[in-house]
Amino acid sequence: MAYDTRFYGLGFSFDSFNGMPYVHLGRCGLQVSRVGLGTWKMGYPERGDKSRVGRDQAFCILDRALELGVTFWDTANRYNESSGNSERVLGEWFRAHPGERRNIVLATKMAGAMDGVTPNHCGLSRANILDSVYASLDRLGLDHIDLLQFHRTEPQTPVEESLEAVADLRRRDLVRYLGLSNASVEDLMEYRELARQYGLPLVCSVQNNFNPLDGEREGRRGVLAFCARNRLAFIPYSPLSRGLLTNRYLPGRSVGQGDRLVDEGSLEQLSGGEVREQLVRLEELARQEGLTIAQLSLAYLLHLPGMGPLIPSASTVEQLEENTRAATVELSAGTLEQLRRIFVDEATLDLENL
Ligand SMILES: NC(=O)c1ccc[n+]([C@@H]2O[C@H](COP(=O)([O-])OP(=O)(O)OC[C@H]3O[C@@H](n4cnc5c(N)ncnc54)[C@H](OP(=O)(O)O)[C@@H]3O)[C@@H](O)[C@H]2O)c1
Repeated sequence: MAYDTRFYGLGFSFDSFNGMPYVHLGRCGLQVSRVGLGTWKMGYPERGDKSRVGRDQAFCILDRALELGVTFWDTANRYNESSGNSERVLGEWFRAHPGERRNIVLATKMAGAMDGVTPNHCGLSRANILDSVYASLDRLGLDHIDLLQFHRTEPQTPVEESLEAVADLRRRDLVRYLGLSNASVEDLMEYRELARQYGLPLVCSVQNNFNPLDGEREGRRGVLAFCARNRLAFIPYSPLSRGLLTNRYLPGRSVGQGDRLVDEGSLEQLSGGEVREQLVRLEELARQEGLTIAQLSLAYLLHLPGMGPLIPSASTVEQLEENTRAATVELSAGTLEQLRRIFVDEATLDLENL
C-alpha cells in the first residue's frame, strides 16, 4: 500500500491512497476516492438474480479496486431483483479480507420494497429504516455502514421520523453518515431545515441519475448547483449512461448478446444517429488526449463544481482500470470547451454564477 502524504505541522494528512486522489464527502470529515465503484450488477447470476458479475469475477474487480485506491463502494439492499445479493457478495469479500474493512468506505441504500411483503417492508418509517439496516449489516457481515442513503424520498413519513431513526443508528455506530438518492432541491431543503430545527443528522451527499449526455433529469434539475453552493457531494449514478459512453458503440463495432444495453433492451438511444455522432466526436477528442470515451466522460464529470465521487460499475478488471484513470486526468481549457459543445450545456446546470 502506498500512502501519499503531505506534512502539516502537527501531523500527517493523507490526500490520496495508492495513487488515487481523495475528496471530502461534501462538508463531512469523511474522505472518499474520487473514482469509486458501483456494485449494482454484482451478485449470483447462476441463481437467476439478473446480476451480471458473479462472485469470482466480483472478487477480482474488488481486489484490483483496492490496489488502485478505488475504495468508495456503492451498493443497495435491493439490487438485482430485491435479492440483497450485491450486499452478500461484498459481505463475502469483507469476510475474506477482514483487515481491509477500514480501507473501504461502504455506501448502501434502503427504501424500496425488500425483505418482506407487508406495507411496512418499504419506505422511510423508523421501523423500515431500522429493520433494513440490520438486514444490510447482516448480509454485509459488517458492524457499521459508512454512508446510509435513502434510495428515494417518501412523502408519507414525516422527515423528522426518518432522521431520528438515523440519529439513533448513529448513536449506536451502526451508521456513520447520511445521504439521499433520487432527490430534488425541495427535498434537500426540507431535510436541511428539519435537521437544523431538531438537531438531527444533516445529509452530506445526493446520488442522482446524471451523465454528461443527458445532464439532470426532469424533477431533479438544480440539484448539482445546490450541492456546489451548499457543500454537499453530488454522486452521479450511471455516469457512463450504463455503458453507452464508451468506445463500444462507435460505428462499425459489433454489439450483441451479453452486452448490457442489448440485454436490457436499451439501445434505442442510438437509433436517431445523433448520439452516435456525439460518440464519434468524443472519440476523436479522446484519441487526441490519449484517452478513451469513458475516461474523457468521467474526467469531464469530475471537473464540474459540486461533483463528488463517481461510481461507475465495471464488469471486468479492464473496465475498472480504464475508468479509474479518469481520476488523475487533467483537462485543458481548450478540451473542456470542446466537450461543452458536445455534452449537455453546462448553463442548464445553473453552474455559471456559483
Ligand atoms: N441510486 C440509484 O437509484 C441508482 C440507480 C442506478 C445505479 N446506481 C449506482 O450507480 C452505479 C453505476 O451505474 P450503472 O451501473 O447503472 O451505469 P454506468 O456506471 O454508467 O455503466 C456501467 C456499465 O457500463 C459498462 N462499462 C463500464 N465501464 C466500461 C468501459 N470502460 N468500457 C466499456 N464498457 C464499460 C458495463 O456494462 P457491460 O456489463 O455491458 O460491460 C457496466 O455495467 C451502480 O453500480 C449503482 O451503484 C444507483
